[in-house]
Amino acid sequence: MGSIWTAETKIRRRESLPGDMEAEAVVIGAGLTGILTAYYLKMAGISTVVLEADRIGSGQTKNTTAKITSQHNLIYDWLLQTYGSRMTFAYANANENAIDEYEKLIQEKKIDCDFVRCPAFLYSQKEDKLLRREAEAAEAIGIEASFEKDSELPFAVAGVVRFPQQARFAPLKFLEAMAQEVTVYEQTKVLKVNGKRVETGKGCVTAKHIIFASHFPLINVPGYYFARMYQQRSYVVALEGAGRMEGMYMGIDRDGLSFRMQEEVLLLGGGSHRTGVNQTGGQYEKLRRKAQELYPDCHETACWSAQDCMTLDQIPYIGRYSSRKPDWYVATGFGKWGMSTAMAAAKILTAQITGQQCPEAAVFSPRRHLTGKSVKELLSNSVYAVKGLGKHLLPAESGRIVPNCPHMGCRLEWNPDEETYDCPCHGSRFDREGRLIDGPAQTDCRRR
Ligand code: FES
Repeated sequence: MGSIWTAETKIRRRESLPGDMEAEAVVIGAGLTGILTAYYLKMAGISTVVLEADRIGSGQTKNTTAKITSQHNLIYDWLLQTYGSRMTFAYANANENAIDEYEKLIQEKKIDCDFVRCPAFLYSQKEDKLLRREAEAAEAIGIEASFEKDSELPFAVAGVVRFPQQARFAPLKFLEAMAQEVTVYEQTKVLKVNGKRVETGKGCVTAKHIIFASHFPLINVPGYYFARMYQQRSYVVALEGAGRMEGMYMGIDRDGLSFRMQEEVLLLGGGSHRTGVNQTGGQYEKLRRKAQELYPDCHETACWSAQDCMTLDQIPYIGRYSSRKPDWYVATGFGKWGMSTAMAAAKILTAQITGQQCPEAAVFSPRRHLTGKSVKELLSNSVYAVKGLGKHLLPAESGRIVPNCPHMGCRLEWNPDEETYDCPCHGSRFDREGRLIDGPAQTDCRRR
């Protein structure tokens, strides 16, 4: 199982860190956020190296559905009511600018990455009230948005919210081109960060500015991101023969699906669940049944899954890692909106590191105040972490490994859809031999 992006793009290999070195900035993680941040820092005259534990784009960038949007589910109505118009405008502006910035870079550098401007829609089959409110909130802060009754979807809808001039692209093609602009060391896993020293198994990089862009931050304290985020998985099938649609769609109902074309192929997504809470499995099967029902003539060409970091209030954490580490920076918690947020993060972090004004930074600050909703989320997150709410159904062969997560000891759960051991607390994942796939854990499971 692999995404259509990995099948179509081969990224050139880079050497490992050749030994100790110094730079002005070091970025941990060579996904879209890490590469873009390194690029803008370099443009600002700051010598920067990127350290990647595996290969460029081998993390979540290869698993995205690659919609570049300022439409992020139902967010503007909630943001307006919670944070007011100034913060809501800043959030919208950062993401709208991100779409333009991608287009500018792609044109300037003539990157062949299937970039297409297209509308993005939220839809519901059940009710239109939330959609109408979202459209009104978006319009109130200056985003072009409209509530409409019709859609291109192959079923009836109660309504849609349309954001015109959004975009989609092939993320690894873009990443491969941008990675050529910066210095990246692959197969260089960061083991420890101590002040200005980033220690790896291949040497140590000493830098004034350290940027954590590795999906889930690898340092637990300070920052405490493990307590402020959980991870979610979702599934995608790629379908040929499913017709065409211009827009990208995302359902707001409980079992809502996402739809997005990549040339002649439809990417149908759904089945979201908290990582570590999929004991009965069947997520791909559900998507396949839906595909057959909606598009009887289609056939599947690929399937894959994605892992997203979810924050307590839906807003990513971008900015200084902790008040105790003023030269450490973080970009995480992008939810399902990693493309526009990666660009927004790169611009915000570059502005902060170079001492420029950035009106968008406040809304993303990792040190923002907790809202009532955030506190509720924090408490329910803690309940998972303290008790572990799973059923602990493990396959017979699990006897070979100690089924406790090496991050903080939570009991692992078996995910039959992907044949992995997943942690319900903060979302670390391991293959059937107990080898680490996704952090925040930094090591494999212990073996018996
Ligand atoms: Fe934190 Fe498993 S990811 S305990």
